[in-house]
Amino acid sequence: MDIADWKTTDWILKEDRVFESDPNLVKDSNIMTYARGKGFSTLDELYRWAKNNLEEFWKDMASQLEWFAPWDVVLDWKYPDARWFDGAKCNIVYNCLDRHMHTQVRNQVAFYWEGESGARRIYSYASLFDEVNRFANALVRMGVQKGDRVAVYLPRIPEQIIAMLAIARIGAIHTVIYSGLGSKALAERVQDAEAKVVITADGSYYRGKVVELKPAVDEAIRFCPSVDKIIVVRRAKNRVMMVTGRDLYLDEALATADRYQPCAEMEAEDPLFILYTSGTTGKPKGVVHVHGGYMVGVYATTKMVLDLRKEDMYWCTADPGWITGHSYIVYGPLLNGVTQLFYEGAPDFPDPARMFYNIDHYGVSVLYTTPTAIRYLMHYGERWPAKFPMERIRVLGTVGEPINPEAWIWYREAFCDRCPVIDTWWQTETGMHIVTPVVNMPLKPGSAARPFLGIEADVMDADGNPVPPGKGGFLVIKTPWPSMMRDIYKDREKYESYWKTIEGVYVAGDACTKDEDGYFWIQGRVDDVIKKAGYRLGSMEIESALVGHEAVAEAAAIGIPDEVKGEAIKAFVVLKQGFSASDYLADQLKQQVRENMGVIAVPDEVVFVDSLPKTRSGKIMRRLLKAKEAGLEVGDTSTLEE
Ligand code: WT7
Repeated sequence: MDIADWKTTDWILKEDRVFESDPNLVKDSNIMTYARGKGFSTLDELYRWAKNNLEEFWKDMASQLEWFAPWDVVLDWKYPDARWFDGAKCNIVYNCLDRHMHTQVRNQVAFYWEGESGARRIYSYASLFDEVNRFANALVRMGVQKGDRVAVYLPRIPEQIIAMLAIARIGAIHTVIYSGLGSKALAERVQDAEAKVVITADGSYYRGKVVELKPAVDEAIRFCPSVDKIIVVRRAKNRVMMVTGRDLYLDEALATADRYQPCAEMEAEDPLFILYTSGTTGKPKGVVHVHGGYMVGVYATTKMVLDLRKEDMYWCTADPGWITGHSYIVYGPLLNGVTQLFYEGAPDFPDPARMFYNIDHYGVSVLYTTPTAIRYLMHYGERWPAKFPMERIRVLGTVGEPINPEAWIWYREAFCDRCPVIDTWWQTETGMHIVTPVVNMPLKPGSAARPFLGIEADVMDADGNPVPPGKGGFLVIKTPWPSMMRDIYKDREKYESYWKTIEGVYVAGDACTKDEDGYFWIQGRVDDVIKKAGYRLGSMEIESALVGHEAVAEAAAIGIPDEVKGEAIKAFVVLKQGFSASDYLADQLKQQVRENMGVIAVPDEVVFVDSLPKTRSGKIMRRLLKAKEAGLEVGDTSTLEE
């Protein structure tokens, strides 16, 4: 079976038009301004130069930020470990906030927050600076110190951003957990990180309803002895249980806090955050990012890929609970001093006009969203976007999963037919965009174009040989980049496995082909990671939630192609003796997954089977199930059995 068969998508290469963007829209792009400053008149010249002068390029980017003390070397690469800007001292929050207090940016809006119900709050850079300082001081008063881990389990409200910045300001390490995850998922992450404090809210609003958060925290921390304080933000004003001495409301903690809390001086290589993501085992992986290199990587890509400028109004529809929100809502935009919209709710609530209304009302000029959101809106039809002029839009970005050419073209036609569509490929582990077009490139719908400046990526077979154009292989990164993960928390071996699956290169876990022009076509995961609506879910995590039910003996969860969500989850369940299959039981099992893992992990379909295909050593052969679902010729399975 060829690796090219393992695509989750079957649309690749069905569209062969090449799109150019309106030259007026892209002529003063940040990347071309940089190119000209280096004496280059074309993008190709700049890319060629950066390829041979990787450290020089990243040094240029780092030099645009402020450092408390300079670095000794740009890159210290001892395979598979990189240290970037080693010896330097900095704090990413200083560059997001303090640095702007001496410039015009001070009085500019950092973000407009729009609640789902229409509530509004506006934060200038100066007021955000104040809020972050007070929150940071409250944390210090609670005994949080440099290096301590603090968990953030909040909905998309301003306090989510403020909490992250406050934690990082004092040199503590944030671990943000998406508020849609269930109590078991929360417990696992808080436990692994050994967080001292959990920051949550009474509840959140989603699709017009109050979603409770505090009960999930109460349940989870029964298994988390490291936690000694819970800070609760009042959002939905629903009644919650508060434990005296352990739980306190944020407003009470802030009431006695100082207005200024000095920014901790960090080593460039000191950890900034741990973000958990799903892999092929039952346990989530704690991806570790650091202050210095991560800062430089997200600063540079926000500027050159999203092309954000001071006069822009930017909107990224992601949640800071995932890496997209970390890099391109919280850190990247603030580092660049830009203004954004931060929206609490669902893009189609109360109706499909919401997304277009928000764009029109706020004058959004750069939009960054997911293929799933685009396909949802596409399915509601043209009449919704047609009502809104959306005149200021100039850049359209997408992320999280492969985008099919049909959705790509609809995105452009519905939102702005002269604009570049920037399909950015990257991962929690990479921290920043890796394979992506920039606004001045000719664009091919369905392709993420080329490796970014200062990145060397390729497509290889399992033995590490580059594969010829048009052939399927593994997407690999050949050289270190500043915002690469530095570790998997408490799992050094797992970290190394990314760089040792194919000796000498970083293996991303995606299948890919490259065309004659060097454009990358990413086809989906080759491992047991499911990408449902852009969410990254581990088969084994879903299976272990299912097996937690008394009726279940064994379970296998796989991703199957879905027109809107990219992939849907199908679960195969073997029941224990004495239990019989029913729709009722299937619903109960879905409920079990919802409570444990959260609503995003709920199987779309549960089927009961007598047995599961396994290897001789007893491992479930999910690939076989997947191949059968896709209608592929499975053929000889003897090699698979190993
Ligand atoms: C996986 C990483 C990157 C931030 C959000 C997801 C898939 C991501 C693309 C894209 C095709 C994509 C890959 C990757 N993916 N962007 N533009 N085209 N696939 O981060 O949760 O760590 O997931 O998302 O499969 O490995 P993540």
